[in-house]
Amino acid sequence: MARHLITSALPYINGIKHLGNMVGSMLPADVYSRYLRQRGHDVLYICATDEHGTPAELAAKEQGLDVAEFCAQAHDAQKAVYDGFALAFDYFGRSSSAENRDITQHFARKLNENGFIEERAIRQVYSPADGRFLPDRYVEGTCPHCGYDKARGDQCENCTRVLDPTDLINPRSAISGSTDLEVRETKHLFLLQSKLQHEVEQWVARHEDDWPQLASSIARKWLNEGLHDRAITRDLDWGVPVPADTWPELAAEGKVFYVWFDAPIEYIGATKEWADQDPENRDWKSWWYDVDTKVRYTEFMAKDNVPFHTVMFPATELGVREPWKKVDYVKAFNWLTYYGGKFSTSQKRGVFTDQALGILPADYWRYFLIANAPESDDSSFTWEHFTATVNKDLADTLGNFVNRVLSFSRKRFGDDVPAGGEPGEAEAKLGEEIARLLAEYEEQMEALQFRKAAAALRALWSAGNSYLEEKAPWLEIKTDKDGAALTLRTAMNLIHLYAVVSKPLIPATAAIMRAAFSLEDDTATWVTAAEAKSLSAVPAGTPFTVPPVLFAKLTDEDLGTYKERFGGEEG
Ligand code: 2FM
Ligand code: ZN
Repeated sequence: MARHLITSALPYINGIKHLGNMVGSMLPADVYSRYLRQRGHDVLYICATDEHGTPAELAAKEQGLDVAEFCAQAHDAQKAVYDGFALAFDYFGRSSSAENRDITQHFARKLNENGFIEERAIRQVYSPADGRFLPDRYVEGTCPHCGYDKARGDQCENCTRVLDPTDLINPRSAISGSTDLEVRETKHLFLLQSKLQHEVEQWVARHEDDWPQLASSIARKWLNEGLHDRAITRDLDWGVPVPADTWPELAAEGKVFYVWFDAPIEYIGATKEWADQDPENRDWKSWWYDVDTKVRYTEFMAKDNVPFHTVMFPATELGVREPWKKVDYVKAFNWLTYYGGKFSTSQKRGVFTDQALGILPADYWRYFLIANAPESDDSSFTWEHFTATVNKDLADTLGNFVNRVLSFSRKRFGDDVPAGGEPGEAEAKLGEEIARLLAEYEEQMEALQFRKAAAALRALWSAGNSYLEEKAPWLEIKTDKDGAALTLRTAMNLIHLYAVVSKPLIPATAAIMRAAFSLEDDTATWVTAAEAKSLSAVPAGTPFTVPPVLFAKLTDEDLGTYKERFGGEEG
């Protein structure tokens, strides 16, 4: 039994996420956590909402809410959707927590003591009308490169060039529209990442061979471009305050840390939030502090987050000069596209997680997304592919098998698993095949190869169908009743095995399949190779019920409705 710490990238607070976000971080982290828990490991899966930064402030303003109030509501709304997706976090925290504030401030003090933080004066746009500095998106104006007149202080949407607010022509405040702006000198804290370059390089070199190529190549690219010193504070009302004991002047001016400084620290902060709920039984430090080889830490994220997790956050952790746990394995994902184009929160393109749950239960989405996870390349979501996959894999291969076997057996043998017949060659062959596929499934799960794991699971389901077709108990029963009983009992054992091993991907359906049998002492959390071969966990005489249809078949009409509602064409 090993200890596994698992985190998935913290979703920004400013809105419900789309399916692309789900498949690139939280869902695979959940599947992996569930799998490891079932195998008996000690798992801690932590996530949280990422609540700071200008997007949170601006979203709150749009809704006419105070930022704290907005974040509290938006956190609950996101949590409700994740519950709907059956994401089994050990804790889903908030980066605005007191715990994260304390640990973030501690990190900053330590970095400062160790010579990795420096105060520097920089020129920033100030608005007398608003009585504040205007960082990043708080300034709008004309792009100096392309002349677009709604360019934002951090980037021009038209030509995509990265900007500094002081670059804009005819700048105006995004808050009040005031054009009476000036440039003032103000002091900010800089993290001297350049001084940590060498150490980070050595650390990456020790780990990158274990990482998937997507993660190591991005880390290398950033290191090759060189680590630059970065401003880690902002003039905002909302954020982790700069600690007054260390920087009284900056604290008095109301500076807060930049969102990307405190967000990864919230992985630790949320673990403390979790422990603070039950301090007698939970020790957050035993997951994070001085546990180098005792805990295996796996992070899940989409590729745009990789630089922060493979280079920037490790640099921070190294600079603190305390033995904080650093990531062992970075599972990075490419993009899930919508008909080949971008899912876009701002343009409302694609399918959002709350909408998805309004259409079909979580297991349909969980299975489809994992089976098509954008691992080696981007993958595309289309309604055609989705409905075809649901119909073929879930409704036919799994759902139909379960229903056919149980209803036929009830009809011919009553409400208990039928007795009779001795396992023969067909059962031995099936057992070998199931054991082989189970080993393949385990191997892919352990390698975090989610598409391949889903393919192995599908192959397990298919093997049951082949066996049933070959034995054809509906014909067998006419001449050999015991033989038909054996076939059905074996098939019911497959259903029980599917219930156990499908749970990481489709937990709700797995529970229904499991509950079909009233077994005493059914505590199995996993299946051994020997059990897979003998297929005898459910003995003759076990009472069972026939569950309702597990997966509805989606019709052409359904497909048409989805496409009409969400748009199907390339964009
Ligand atoms: O890209 C994002 O959605 C960020 N909110 C991810 C943060 S990950 C972590 F470092 F907090
Ligand atoms: Zn431009």
